[in-house]
Amino acid sequence: MVVNQLEVKNFRNIENTSLEPCKGINIIYGENAQGKTNLLESIWLFTGCRSFRGSKDNEIINFNSTKANIYMDFNAFDREQSASLEISEGRRFFLNGVKMKSSSQIMGEFLCVVFSPVHLSLVKEGPYERRRFLDIAISQLKPKYGVTLSQYNKAVAQRNILLKDVAYHSELYDTLDIWEDRIAFFGSEIIRQRLGYINKLSLYTDEIYSGLSNERERLNIAYKQQAIIGGDNKQELYENLKSQLYASRKNDLITGSTSIGPHRDDLSIKIDGLSARSFGSQGQQRSAALALKLGEAAVIKSFSGEQPVALLDDVMSELDINRQNYILNHIKDWQVFITCCDPANVKHLKDGKRFMMKNGVVKKK
Ligand SMILES: Nc1ncnc2c1ncn2[C@@H]1O[C@H](COP(=O)(O)OP(=O)(O)OP(=O)(O)O)[C@@H](O)[C@H]1O
Ligand SMILES: [Mg+2]
Repeated sequence: MVVNQLEVKNFRNIENTSLEPCKGINIIYGENAQGKTNLLESIWLFTGCRSFRGSKDNEIINFNSTKANIYMDFNAFDREQSASLEISEGRRFFLNGVKMKSSSQIMGEFLCVVFSPVHLSLVKEGPYERRRFLDIAISQLKPKYGVTLSQYNKAVAQRNILLKDVAYHSELYDTLDIWEDRIAFFGSEIIRQRLGYINKLSLYTDEIYSGLSNERERLNIAYKQQAIIGGDNKQELYENLKSQLYASRKNDLITGSTSIGPHRDDLSIKIDGLSARSFGSQGQQRSAALALKLGEAAVIKSFSGEQPVALLDDVMSELDINRQNYILNHIKDWQVFITCCDPANVKHLKDGKRFMMKNGVVKKK
């Protein structure tokens, strides 16, 4: 996956700029608030996903305009392609001149991973962020997973409503069974997919983290279930989840919520056996989040055969020189966009292109 040309118009503070990145490492440097992260965000949107900053589309359009446009030429799946995106009332994607019916239609055509300071929440915040990471990563590889997830969430919501209603209408008690069956059916598939994904991901994250720490520290990731639902296959997982839901009824009727199932699970992240969230230093937490993101890219490559473009926003700060060098070496065969304030941070970079960004305009240096 290689971006050959990018043109951005009325996107946040970028009124009109363009660049021709190289196949390898592209450094975008400049002072604070010049538009470096905005530029990465504009590339990211071609994945069809929402902004990685969690922004709404109307916040993305330049304050003085009513629409934003992004054009990109790229190489993917052994051919030259072009894509454009217009954001005004909603999004309109074109791929090779053909209008896409929805954002989801462009998913999988342009593959990219992003690491930005917001992704530190993967390590620092609560389980919701890590479940979201797993769910988005798996959905990108297997779109059916997204459907299973939304059916699962609906079934949990229905059971929760019923748990509250039973207090007033005891005759509804038996209908809990219907929703528990659906929760177990979709939930067992979610657990199975997450276990499989983490298994694969951990092969890469272990290796990347030991490289980052110069073989001095070990990262360990694992699926952490709120209630252990054992089973070697989907059928066993289904039966175990169903019987545990039944067993948790008494407690769940008191709280009015479903206390077990994949919506309560987590991804455990440990460095040398200690929780990265509770005990990790800033550099260790950043390294762990980065290992997850670079690992995600490696899994995408193993599935699709394409190396995704990497967008690394402000990745070098807080990392010592060994870790910085590892990143530059590890990603040397990918197309990467790295933003930083001070280009001295990447002085070890021999090949690649440098761009300076000022007031929303990119200039080759
Ligand atoms: N819709 C918008 N219209 C115009 N300007 C916007 C819009 N949204 C955000 N901005 C501005 O874009 C500017 C640059 O943002 P960006 O986050 O890309 O900076 P940066 O170069 O990455 O800075 P830093 O080094 O601090 O991370 C901000 O000052 C912000 O006010
Ligand atoms: Mg920034």
